[in-house]
Parts: sequence; structure tokens; C-alpha cells
Amino acid sequence: MKLAILSRSPRIYSTQRLKTAAQERGHSVRVLDTLRFSIDLAGDEPDLQYRGKQLSHYDAVLPRIGASITFYGMAVVRQFEQMDVYTPNTSNGIANSRDKLRAIQILSRHNIGIPATTFVRDRADVLPAIERVGGSPVVIKLLEGTQGIGVILAPDVKVAEAVIETLQSTRQNVLIQRFVAESKGQDIRAFVVGDRVVAAMRRKASGDEFRSNLHRGGTSEVVHLDPEFERVAVQSAQIMGLRVAGVDMLESEDGPLVMEVNSSPGLEGIETATDLDIAGAIVDYIANQVAFPELDIRQRLTVSTGYGVAELQVGQKSDLVGKAIGDTGLRERDITVLTLTRGTTVIPNPRGVRELEVDDRLLCFGRLESMRDLVPERKRRRARPKIKPLPHDD
Ligand SMILES: Nc1ncnc2c1ncn2[C@@H]1O[C@H](COP(=O)(O)OP(=O)(O)O)[C@@H](O)[C@H]1O
Ligand SMILES: [Mg+2]
Repeated sequence: MKLAILSRSPRIYSTQRLKTAAQERGHSVRVLDTLRFSIDLAGDEPDLQYRGKQLSHYDAVLPRIGASITFYGMAVVRQFEQMDVYTPNTSNGIANSRDKLRAIQILSRHNIGIPATTFVRDRADVLPAIERVGGSPVVIKLLEGTQGIGVILAPDVKVAEAVIETLQSTRQNVLIQRFVAESKGQDIRAFVVGDRVVAAMRRKASGDEFRSNLHRGGTSEVVHLDPEFERVAVQSAQIMGLRVAGVDMLESEDGPLVMEVNSSPGLEGIETATDLDIAGAIVDYIANQVAFPELDIRQRLTVSTGYGVAELQVGQKSDLVGKAIGDTGLRERDITVLTLTRGTTVIPNPRGVRELEVDDRLLCFGRLESMRDLVPERKRRRARPKIKPLPHDD
């Protein structure tokens, strides 16, 4: 394949390793400076110029977009998507990963643990927000921080209020998050490629620091992940729209809590800690996927008016219970079942003989009118149980 690595730093470890891994496998590879692209929307078809000349054909692109050029980098990746060039990380995925609030908002509806978090603007809402996540000490985070910069542990409510007020006065948005004290300055970085974790390490903060980022002096050791940590890491990356991702998780009493998902995770720390060829795994994965460039299924499908996608739920009283999909009459009503979700398992393209059970969820494509009365009633909001008090409260 012909691969373009988008990077502003051709000489750093990660870029070098990716380039070498591609060359070793006989691929043609170039490192292109993300900021030297021009996006051309004048012609008949989406196109890109590089250093003033029309870009030649590439089969795949691997974006390594630094936080300081997120906006431009995303635009370049989005343009490659319009040109049907495969990218493991979509522009949307990168956008999701760059904003910690956006990331955990998206993850929060799925079966993925996240630290209790709130986002408030008005001064009057700050104190109740801190209480809601379990009181002090409390973590305050800039939405767009990286490498541990912009993550603060406030020992008491007064300091927390002062920090939040100061940051907000300089127009910075902040998250208020429960301090997961039991993780003791450690976290897990799981490196996801495609649908598996290819490497994982546990990072430990140095001294009395609570942030375990390697950039903050943290140390790392190889770790064998529990299946639950693996599932959470892979699903988080996929939900975000990332096929190459570094998922940061805390080890809490209730299992993995995802803090963030990084879309340009560094290779040096994790390759050194684990002695694994992660660059090779990334290149192999991309080579395997080039035939399947990003496609916005909703955008394409809904071009046919009156048709769309919907998720149907098999309720307790539904007459679908116990029936084989082929006998439900869905197909006759112009509805195709794309996937069946049962608990945490997803069955793609379920066969007609598969029998439906209570609580199954069916992702369908079909006539909206036929699906209307099968869509579950809007759920009523329940009052939330209180967060249990933290051990250091008593
Ligand atoms: N809620 C929390 N409880 C305990 N430690 C945390 C919490 N949030 C972050 N940390 C620590 O701070 C580090 C940096 O936080 P993270 O959200 O990953 O931001 P960054 O993008 O700067 O890496 C984490 O790796 C972890 O060690
Ligand atoms: Mg992090």
C-alpha cells in the first residue's frame, strides 16, 4: 500500500518507528507535514494540494495530529475521508478525543465506567457540583489539557472554588471530577489497534504527584490486563471513532474508569515498557483495512427518503419474544436487521433462524413508517441513586 503519515515531527520516535515499520513490510510510505496541505474545494471532486502541488494517490493515511494543530489537522483528515482514503482515526474521532468533556459525554451512555464528572458554568452551581461528585479532594481538569498539564487536585472546597473561578475568568472551561483516591497515583494505558489491545502498561506517578503521565515523571511497567479492562478499552476507542488509540483508565474499586482516549498516543513509552512492536501492529492493521474507507452510514442511507436507521427493543410483552427473526414479519414490512445486541454481545447480520429474547436490541434499517410503532417509548428519567461516600470522608 501507499501510506501517508501526517506529522509535523518526522524525526521523533513515534514517526520514525511507524515509517520504518511500513518500509520493513514493503509498503511505500511518506511522512507529510500536516500544515503544508491546502484543501481545495473548487474542483468537481474533493482534492488536496501538498506543498503547492496536487497530491498523488494514497491508499491510507495515518494522522498523528498534535494538540496545537487540532483544528487544521482535523480538516486535512476530513478531506482525505471525502477522497475515500482510508484512515484508522476519523476526523470526528480526533475531535471527540481532544475534548475531555465531549469524550466522556459520548462514553457515558454506553456500558463504560467513567469517574463521576460534572460540568458547570455558573458560580452558584460549583459547590453543589463538587458535592455531587463526592466532595473534596476533587480533581479539576481543563477540557483540552494533555500530558498532565491542566489536571489539578484541589485538597478542599475553598481551593477548588478559587481554582475554578480563576480558570473561568480566563475563559477556560473546566471539568469537576471525583478524585479516585484508591488508584493511588497509578493508571493503565491500554494501546488499542483495531478491535484489540495490543499492549498495556501501568503508569505510576513519582513521589507525591498524583498524575501518572510519563511527561510528569511517571514510571511504567508492563501489565497483563483483565478481560474487563480490555473490553472497556476496545469499546471506548470504537465508540469514539478511533482504531488507533491510547485509552487511559483508573483502577477503581468498581473496575475500570476511563479518563480519556488519546488519538495520537506516543509509542516510545509503551514500546519500551512492553518490548512489543506496536508500530508494526498499526501498519499491519491499516494494510488490512485499506479497502474499507470511512463511510457515514446514516448520511448515505438517509438519502433515500422515508428510510433510516433505528434501534428497536424487544420488550417483555412484545410479540417478537421467542420468534425467529425470519418469522417476525420485519422483512415483509421492509425492515432489515443489521445487528442484534444481547447484553454486552453484539451479533452482526443475525440469521433468520435466530430466536429473539426479552431485552434484545435490534439495529435496523428500513421504512421509518414501519418502524415507528416498534421503537421503544421514550424512557422516563429516574432519580439517580446517591454516590456512596468516599472512604476519606469519615
Ligand atoms: N479523577 C481522577 N482521579 C485520580 N487520578 C486522576 C484523575 N484524573 C486524572 N488523574 C491522573 O492524572 C493523569 C492525567 O489525567 P488525564 O485525564 O489523562 O489528562 P491528560 O490528558 O493531561 O493526560 C492521569 O493519568 C491520572 O494519573
Ligand atoms: Mg492522559
